[in-house]
Amino acid sequence: MGSGQTVAVFGAYGHTGRFVVTELRDRGFVPLLLGRDAGKLQALAASHPGLEHRVASVGDPGSLDQALNGAAAVINCAGPFASTAAPVIEAALRAGVPYVDVAAEIEANLDTFTHFTDRAQTAGVAVVPAMAFFGGLGDLLVTTAMGDWAAADEAHVAYGLSSWHPTGGTLASGAVSRERRDGRRVRYTSGRLEYYVAEGDLPTLEWDFRAPMGRRTVLGEFTMADVVTIPSHLPIPEVRTYMTTDAATDLAAPDASAPTAVDELGRSAQAFTVDVIVRSGDTQRRVVASGQDIYAISAPLAVEAVHRILGGQTGTSGVASAGEIFDAPEFLRALSAHISLEPCHESES
Ligand SMILES: NC(=O)c1ccc[n+]([C@@H]2O[C@H](COP(=O)([O-])OP(=O)(O)OC[C@H]3O[C@@H](n4cnc5c(N)ncnc54)[C@H](OP(=O)(O)O)[C@@H]3O)[C@@H](O)[C@H]2O)c1
Repeated sequence: MGSGQTVAVFGAYGHTGRFVVTELRDRGFVPLLLGRDAGKLQALAASHPGLEHRVASVGDPGSLDQALNGAAAVINCAGPFASTAAPVIEAALRAGVPYVDVAAEIEANLDTFTHFTDRAQTAGVAVVPAMAFFGGLGDLLVTTAMGDWAAADEAHVAYGLSSWHPTGGTLASGAVSRERRDGRRVRYTSGRLEYYVAEGDLPTLEWDFRAPMGRRTVLGEFTMADVVTIPSHLPIPEVRTYMTTDAATDLAAPDASAPTAVDELGRSAQAFTVDVIVRSGDTQRRVVASGQDIYAISAPLAVEAVHRILGGQTGTSGVASAGEIFDAPEFLRALSAHISLEPCHESES
């Protein structure tokens, strides 16, 4: 359990931010509600009597400094992160407190590694980008599957989503990423991130997910934040991510609707399976995780990260992805109430 420490949540009234606030409370932390809109903050605070809220804007560093005053850590849930990550990390470094975000934007996550690795290391401050469903969970699973392997030839992360009702933040972040790519696609191959131009649709293939998802058509080269987090610490030259075509179609629909709650925890009916395969020579290892609602699950991931950082259960400092800074198998075991995990299975490939 948390020790009553105050953890600031920037973007607290967003869809993901709300899950994070509730999870922090459930874990014994005291959430400090931060955001740029006073009215939305007040409305959220009204549903959490006793919690403090402070208005802060990424364009006003002084407001961020005041907002973080007294906080032991900050979780940034305000995306697009192309706009918010750097100013909030700067404020965390000034305050000397750890920073965790849920960014799924490849370029924003890369920027965090590029611009803050040295400074965060020097300051001895943990900065963990993509500590969420995309980026964080895949990295924890690949790191777990690697086990005693120091390197592998390939890592494959296949996302089986039963549906995908995206939030406004997801759509805005996707739009920002597309703009930054200027019509190019991106993939991680031959040990580097490659931007390339291609005509037509993304390639498809059949993927055998575990039951009940079963055999599904997935989009190949549906490249997610795992291509930043995994290679940031594991020597794997080919990192591929896949997405069930049905979910990708939901996401791209012009009339895509936001997730709606179906249970008392506020989760949507969306089921997920993340199927990870790493291959070294003729041997492959497979780890499968499943659960409900990719937004909701991001909260226990981010809060467990803060819990471990504040408790000193970290393997490194500075900017690091989940798989590097935490003991990945132990971290996943700690989330057993939220994520069902199949034990690692090794076979000939
Ligand atoms: N990696 C993952 O698996 C994962 C999981 C969940 C979420 N995410 C990411 O997290 C972000 C938020 O998602 P969401 O589902 O919570 O979306 P959301 O419900 O639309 O909320 C977005 C939040 O970000 C705030 N925000 C946006 N731009 C801002 C800025 N420039 N300054 C301050 N606040 C800003 C919004 O505040 P206003 O209402 O004032 O605009 C709102 O609080 C998205 O980028 C999403 O992709 C990633």
